[in-house]
Amino acid sequence: MKVGLIGLGIMGYRIGANLAKAGKLHIVYNRSADKAESFAKEYKVSKASSINELVEKSDVIITMLSNDDAVKNVVEPIIPIMKGKILIDMSTISPTLSVSLAKKIESVNGTMFDAPVIGTSTFVEQKKLVVLVGGPKEKFDIVYDILKETASSIVYMGSNGMGLYAKLVNNLLLGSYVAAIAEAYNFGLKAGLDPQQIANLLSSLSSARSPTTELKMPKLVKGDYSTQFATKHMRKDLEIIMRESQNLKVITPISSLALQLYKMAEALGYSEFDFVSVLEVFKKLSPKS
Ligand SMILES: NC(=O)c1ccc[n+]([C@@H]2O[C@H](COP(=O)([O-])OP(=O)(O)OC[C@H]3O[C@@H](n4cnc5c(N)ncnc54)[C@H](OP(=O)(O)O)[C@@H]3O)[C@@H](O)[C@H]2O)c1
Repeated sequence: MKVGLIGLGIMGYRIGANLAKAGKLHIVYNRSADKAESFAKEYKVSKASSINELVEKSDVIITMLSNDDAVKNVVEPIIPIMKGKILIDMSTISPTLSVSLAKKIESVNGTMFDAPVIGTSTFVEQKKLVVLVGGPKEKFDIVYDILKETASSIVYMGSNGMGLYAKLVNNLLLGSYVAAIAEAYNFGLKAGLDPQQIANLLSSLSSARSPTTELKMPKLVKGDYSTQFATKHMRKDLEIIMRESQNLKVITPISSLALQLYKMAEALGYSEFDFVSVLEVFKKLSPKS
């Protein structure tokens, strides 16, 4: 079974590396060709010069792309050549869009899975990703067999779209939680507590400690906003949650507020930086005295 990968960004490059090392990746494509060239050289796989070439040379196509527009731009044109092929979309996009693409692919006798992930780039490097899968259960084994080379848990969540809804459940909490961590940290700083002591409190002693405080507190203390997960991506996920919650007729007051805070962080210039940069909103908007 030949596997192709489209999208060699922060996540895709590392996922591809794990698959290539396991001998399970044959061909790659990336919009900016330089990344595909260096990947192909480093991991000795082919580089497609177009998306169509990649699809024609693959049985299974994995996509790891930024957002709804990117997935639409890449997937819609290839639908006519998807007969008998499987698309595994690992991007975090709107479940509504994903389900509509899955239906179109099904209509030409192809198959689509949504397979978004929990975990940042370091998790991929340690093969500790969690993958949440939506799609036809009878073909789940194929997805499992490929993605086990880059993930520690691959969980079947239900029909098309359910992987994405599960991912949004996670990011509703994560986005709200990291904004609250930044608020708590800034409160402690203003009170005169030692930054390292606040970090120790939140990552080791607090009843609200978690793997996220362990991962993010050192970054907050150092002001290290180097990107594990970009502010623009968290804003995008919270926007998807807002749209879906209108459809689902549920209230989402806490994540709505978090969305506004990430938008403010972007307005301050932190769109491409890690989403812990939301701390700057609290720092810059708290009066000096
Ligand atoms: N980073 C994380 O920690 C993390 C964790 C969980 C989930 N995710 C999700 O995983 C997805 C990818 O994240 P990432 O951090 O890897 O993003 P990224 O580094 O920004 O990479 C995005 C990829 O999408 C491609 N792309 C964007 N627009 C495109 C278009 N119109 N046509 C074709 N290709 C396009 C980019 O190509 P170029 O190289 O040409 O720009 C790049 O390969 C996102 O949905 C994100 O929410 C990320």
